[in-house]
Amino acid sequence: MKIIVANWKMNHGFEEADIWLENFFRNLFLQQKLLEKNVIEFVLCPPAILLDYLDSELMDDGFRNLEKIMKNDGKNIEDFTAEELTKLIAEHRHISLGAQDCHHQQSGSFTGNISAAMLTKVGCEYVIIGHSERRIRHFESNEIIAKKAKAAVAENLTPIICVGETKEVREQKKHINFVAHQLLASIPSEAKFQKLIIAYEPIWSIGSGLVPAVSEIAEMAKSIREILTEKFSSQAQEFYVLYGGSVTSKNSKEILSLPNIDGLLVGKASLDADEFFRIATSSSF
Ligand code: PGA
Repeated sequence: MKIIVANWKMNHGFEEADIWLENFFRNLFLQQKLLEKNVIEFVLCPPAILLDYLDSELMDDGFRNLEKIMKNDGKNIEDFTAEELTKLIAEHRHISLGAQDCHHQQSGSFTGNISAAMLTKVGCEYVIIGHSERRIRHFESNEIIAKKAKAAVAENLTPIICVGETKEVREQKKHINFVAHQLLASIPSEAKFQKLIIAYEPIWSIGSGLVPAVSEIAEMAKSIREILTEKFSSQAQEFYVLYGGSVTSKNSKEILSLPNIDGLLVGKASLDADEFFRIATSSSF
């Protein structure tokens, strides 16, 4: 299973979101056979203001999908409790919902912030944590990121923890050690993870059109996997390592085929649903 995450950052409003969904579902309709194999999980991380709206749109999709499946299996929607149905519908939506950040506290006087509990309430299953744009522009330290990840896990959200080196660090050939340190310091030691996603995003690659050589991505993914294995033993095999940074449909196939790479975190190219879909389905499953 590959996880392909769309990070819209501070882009798209309600109108663009509607167009995006329309295009996404048209693509899905045309490629249903491929997706029936359950080989891709799509995660959409829009601006926070769209989460509630997109949750209800995606639940409608989940309901239609579930209805179809139950009909084929001869099951009846009326046989389930409201609680069971909500869970089933959420499980059957074609796109999971994620947020781009959360606060590490549950509630309080934190003007402008959103807690992990609030995200769960609007249907989020994932949250991006420690994106370099937050580390740099909002001065988020590894310590804060670890606290956020812990808060996310406590609310049943899967954290997508981002790590990555600057150009200078890579030029000094210190990138492996740098990312190793960042990773270990950003994972909360006390949290019990059901699922964990690490996104390797070299800062110099984000939005620049520059992508590391596939051998360099493979080298880093291997190192991240080794660190996870050391920390979580065999459970590390169930965790996901994604690559992010200037991913397009021109380079996605090669990156997705790398060992230890379980998916992609896509920024700019995810704003266009057709391109996002091409990226996700570029690998030959
Ligand atoms: P990009 O962004 O695909 O536009 O380079 C990736 C990211 O920041 O997650």
